[in-house]
Amino acid sequence: MSALRLTGVSYVVGRPLLEGIDLELRAGRLTALSGPSGSGKTTLLSIAGGLLEPTTGTASYDGAPMWLGTGDPRPEVAFVLQVYGLVPILSARENVSIALRARGVEPAEADERAEAALARFSIADLGDRQVEELSGGQMQRVALARGLCVGAQVLLADEPTSELDEGNRGLVLAELRREAERGAVVVVATHDPAVVEACDDHVALDEGRLVRVDIGPAPAPEPAAAQATAPAPAAAPVTEPVPAADPGPEPAPEPAPEQRPAPEVDHALFRRPSDPSGPA
Ligand SMILES: Nc1ncnc2c1ncn2[C@@H]1O[C@H](COP(=O)(O)OP(=O)(O)O)[C@@H](O)[C@H]1O
Ligand SMILES: [Mg+2]
Repeated sequence: MSALRLTGVSYVVGRPLLEGIDLELRAGRLTALSGPSGSGKTTLLSIAGGLLEPTTGTASYDGAPMWLGTGDPRPEVAFVLQVYGLVPILSARENVSIALRARGVEPAEADERAEAALARFSIADLGDRQVEELSGGQMQRVALARGLCVGAQVLLADEPTSELDEGNRGLVLAELRREAERGAVVVVATHDPAVVEACDDHVALDEGRLVRVDIGPAPAPEPAAAQATAPAPAAAPVTEPVPAADPGPEPAPEPAPEQRPAPEVDHALFRRPSDPSGPA
């Protein structure tokens, strides 16, 4: 199964901003990355997506290193940046469309897909508006539309709901889950316990170190049960479809819910005693 791996990652600029990070983030999972302001969330996402070269260790996706030597991300990666990264004088639609055009999509199709991406976040009516006229929450949703429209294999979203009310936060989480369900690795940096609760997995940083890694068990290997009752010739292609009329043997059972409870949220992880104001 596809995964984004960080192995022995540190990042040192005078002092260590990250230390001893070992993580495997699997495709199909929605992972929350929490931690107080300044704990290293943005730095970790930047290394995970190939924008920053780690001082030690590696980040890789399916074995391919994320750092390409230039600070450009791999084509498999899309970011939703904490500061949005939108072009203020372009319209909302143009801001989304350029991400598609940069990946070789023809302009007319890019505009159409941009329109559809805006609609996913209930801002289709803002397509013609210049981004600098939009509110923070509207800009945040344009940035989400741009990040999600490209269908990346690795989607890294940095505090993507910080400006949103509860309704829009729920909408965004549902859209991020759709990305995971189509097989992407989805990581969401957040201060918000409600976002952590909505995710499958939870990793937490404090002062550049992982203080919590709450990742569900890897799925059981598929073929074991099938081979026991319906042996196939060794040469059969693995892609051969199973006839629809024969549902085949039972798939390996999902772990019972009580074996994998929703991660408990330690609210202390979201705020330092010296930082009572909450999210930065
Ligand atoms: N290039 C840099 N040089 C020096 N310090 C940095 C640099 N980038 C970030 N920092 C510092 O590293 C710490 C972690 O930052 P960041 O990853 O942005 O944390 P978070 O996203 O959790 O708020 C902060 O103290 C920040 O000020
Ligand atoms: Mg940050």
